[in-house]
Amino acid sequence: MAVQSPKKKWIMNAFAMFTPGHLSPGQWRHPEDRAGDYSDLDYWTDLAKILEAGKFHGLFLADHLGIYDVYKGPGNSVPALESGAQFPLGDPFLLISAMAAATKSLSFAVTASTTYENPAAKAFGFDEQIPHDQRYERAEEYLEVVYKILEGSWKEDSRIMDAALGRYSASDRVRAIEHSGKYFKIKATHQLHPSVQRTPFILQAGASSAGKNFASKHSEAMFLPGLEPHKVRKEADDIRGYAADETISARLAAHGRPKSSLKLLAGVLVIVDETDEKAQAKYQSYLQYADLEGTAALFGGWTDHDLSKYGEDEDFKFTGSGAIQSMVNTWSATIPGGFEDMIKYLWPELRKRGLFWDDYEKVGGSMRESYLGDEQGPKLREGHPGLAYKWVD
Ligand SMILES: Cc1cc2nc3c(=O)[nH]c(=O)nc-3n(C[C@H](O)[C@H](O)[C@H](O)COP(=O)(O)O)c2cc1C
Repeated sequence: MAVQSPKKKWIMNAFAMFTPGHLSPGQWRHPEDRAGDYSDLDYWTDLAKILEAGKFHGLFLADHLGIYDVYKGPGNSVPALESGAQFPLGDPFLLISAMAAATKSLSFAVTASTTYENPAAKAFGFDEQIPHDQRYERAEEYLEVVYKILEGSWKEDSRIMDAALGRYSASDRVRAIEHSGKYFKIKATHQLHPSVQRTPFILQAGASSAGKNFASKHSEAMFLPGLEPHKVRKEADDIRGYAADETISARLAAHGRPKSSLKLLAGVLVIVDETDEKAQAKYQSYLQYADLEGTAALFGGWTDHDLSKYGEDEDFKFTGSGAIQSMVNTWSATIPGGFEDMIKYLWPELRKRGLFWDDYEKVGGSMRESYLGDEQGPKLREGHPGLAYKWVD
């Protein structure tokens, strides 16, 4: 009889946004939802504590620059404003210090644009979007600069804190990096001593060819589009190298990165309760609060297509440049109730099947250690391009 290899444990990554209407506009009105209190710090620190007690690996905070105004537009921000669909929206970086102070092992990830996003091009002084693949070219150079700063500006053991000598940092182990490229020209010293990870754990969401190529080189976890299992399967197979065409796996290999250095995260909405009937009833209660105008505002912003121009039963097919051409096919449950339900009802079942861990690998461990689970410490893994910029003798 074949010996079964131990099952891979799943990574559980919660998804939220600093706004009352992340992916389910209208749910802020649900009696069990707290998203309307998005500007209270307690809302976030309570959420972080719940997720950590439930052993979620991390919390990912989405971000967006601007206001969705395509639906019933152009230039109509009323549906987004009235429904709270990803507006108002705060800077996710601000929340993390508070949540990190309230927890020990939960990891945090944020979206940060290496350019800007449509329609935010105008807010950044551009008249229109930089073409799609050129944005990846710019992102490539952006990361090169980031690696130079985070990996190359401070040598290991440069924060010596030698009280007897009266030296805080070793001046011969800290230097300015220089970069002069197509998009960036920089001469700068990294202003802090390096963090335990140096380069933060990199997550990426992009399904285009340029996006996958970028992911195969830089990202350590990748969000897969597609809520339906067969679509997620296709993406995962492609990335893992089971399909015949040029795959991310082949590209990973070309970059000298082991397969295990890229984790795949699929989006899923979980509505769960003690029984199927109760879960169905919960789902129906969510539907009562769904704000369709807000949902259409999100759809317009992501795809650049105005649903108000189509009839109810009209089939639509579109191409062209939306901010997101591969749809975000995941949305959050009520917060924090949906996460509490998962911890209470779903985790025991997953643990029974050997699919979910009992606890963090390491209390206070870094995101890289937590997500990769390979016991190789907090720094970048072998084959990662960032290591090329490390300052070594
Ligand atoms: C789980 C998930 C999270 C995402 N979070 C954000 C986000 O916070 N902000 C954003 O503008 N786009 C977000 N996106 C959209 C991707 O950034 C977008 O699909 C990507 O730009 C498309 O790249 P591509 O053109 O290479 O396919 C997310 C996508 C997924 C699947």
